[in-house]
Amino acid sequence: MLEVRDLITHYGSSQALFGVSLNVEPGQVATLLGRNGMGKTTTISSIMGIVAASSGSIRFEGQELVGQKSFRTANLGLGLVPEGRQIFPNLSLRENLVATASNHLNLPNPWTVDRVFALFPELETRLTSMGNLLSGGEQQMLAIGRALMTNPRLLILDEATEGLAPLVRRKIWAALSEIRAQGLAILVVDKNLQDLKRIADRHFIIQRGRVVWSGTSDELDANGEAQSRYLGL
Ligand SMILES: Nc1ncnc2c1ncn2[C@@H]1O[C@H](COP(=O)(O)OP(=O)(O)OP(=O)(O)O)[C@@H](O)[C@H]1O
Ligand SMILES: [Mg+2]
Repeated sequence: MLEVRDLITHYGSSQALFGVSLNVEPGQVATLLGRNGMGKTTTISSIMGIVAASSGSIRFEGQELVGQKSFRTANLGLGLVPEGRQIFPNLSLRENLVATASNHLNLPNPWTVDRVFALFPELETRLTSMGNLLSGGEQQMLAIGRALMTNPRLLILDEATEGLAPLVRRKIWAALSEIRAQGLAILVVDKNLQDLKRIADRHFIIQRGRVVWSGTSDELDANGEAQSRYLGL
């Protein structure tokens, strides 16, 4: 579904990615792991067209994304839950959900505000609250709901549960499992390896702008060296 090959990305004259290759299969969950500053967000920003790739290829359902504008990428069916959530502070929760809603692929049974509330019941009571008055957990649920309202086929989450309390984190993981059961593919970055291992089909470890290891949760469990060398565990 998503195939990234030899992706190289610069910030000005500074090179951040040195050839990232990874793939996400339809309906599967893949993770991007690695320590701080290794290039996870840059990889995601490159896929989404927020940062321009210098070279390499990013194919989504056969279409080349390198060189596309970010709105075109989103319209092709990629939904982003960005690092830091980026909720619109001066819009209500409901307005945040509908502001960027779309269904460019004309998917059947599109996401609605009610479907988001079925996934995250706690959001419903906060319908009219302004974005900046929501808790971190509410903001993250809203960011996921907002991305779903664009009816993506692949949902990309950068730091899915960062800074959230354990109870809220559990709700996020449960929601992601449910979304996955509904057929969405997911590419997720998070620091909590235990939760990621439960949900993921495949992991990609990135080290200084390169994917240096990939495998299943069982393979990662069995590979203590990769865990300590690349993840500091
Ligand atoms: N806007 C930017 N301008 C210049 N350099 C940047 C920019 N964003 C990131 N970098 C650099 O690119 C490299 C990769 O950063 P990136 O944010 O992709 O890492 P990350 O794996 O997401 O880290 P973290 O776990 O801290 O979120 C780092 O060396 C970082 O300093
Ligand atoms: Mg990051």
